[in-house]
Amino acid sequence: MLTIYQARDYNELSRKAANIISAQVIMKPNAILGMATGSTPVGAYQQLIEWYQKGDLDFSKIRCVNLDEYKGLSGEHKQSYRYFMNRNLFEHINISLPNTNIPNGLAPDSEAECSRYNNAIQTLGGIDLQVLGIGGNGHIGFNEPDTDFKKETHLVALTEETRTANARFFSTVDEVPTHAYTMGIKNIMSAKRILLLATGSSKAQALYDSLYGPITPHVPASILQLHNDVIVVADDKALDMIEKKGFLK
Ligand code: F6R
Repeated sequence: MLTIYQARDYNELSRKAANIISAQVIMKPNAILGMATGSTPVGAYQQLIEWYQKGDLDFSKIRCVNLDEYKGLSGEHKQSYRYFMNRNLFEHINISLPNTNIPNGLAPDSEAECSRYNNAIQTLGGIDLQVLGIGGNGHIGFNEPDTDFKKETHLVALTEETRTANARFFSTVDEVPTHAYTMGIKNIMSAKRILLLATGSSKAQALYDSLYGPITPHVPASILQLHNDVIVVADDKALDMIEKKGFLK
């Protein structure tokens, strides 16, 4: 089932997303949460921190598994996704760091790192709620438009579009790593529930194509149409095209 929640703006999107994540944490205190980085979920993470600080949430038994990590960056590098998760969420809540999983960007053997990560996801026993952002080209995690869907954790060469989009966090585009580890489509699709977040007009086309266009690896997020439980929280701008095509009731 696809459920779309429309938010007036980023604040409302963040609160709605945080409500869905915290409902999961409350209903299943030892849940496995699939986490995303990027700009979109930051507001939701801040809201979760606030509710944790008020005493409303307990993450002590929660385990997290992140979608992706740049190859070549250490967890201390300010642009690594490990650093991002620690600063934007993990350090501010009572999650135990050994219960958080992110690919190791410095692993010497990429293939071994991919199987280690797949095993880690499997050992956790399945993701209860997977948070996703979406790229302007329809990517999820770092599953870029391609001629086929990659199933499990793999190393990916980032497209110029993605490197340029992510260059805003680096001093120059040349500093953006060329490769990243990402969960594959099967890892993502195995999550019991998906929470897809999108904000801004730069996501409107990708969101429309993903939810209502043909299912194709050229728009990786379009595979979500085959998932049983997808919740989309998006703001007016990201939903603009979907609304114009008459899909929002
Ligand atoms: C991040 C990730 C990416 C982002 C996507 C959107 O872990 O997997 O797929 O979700 O690139 O990024 P933002 O939110 O920065 O627009």
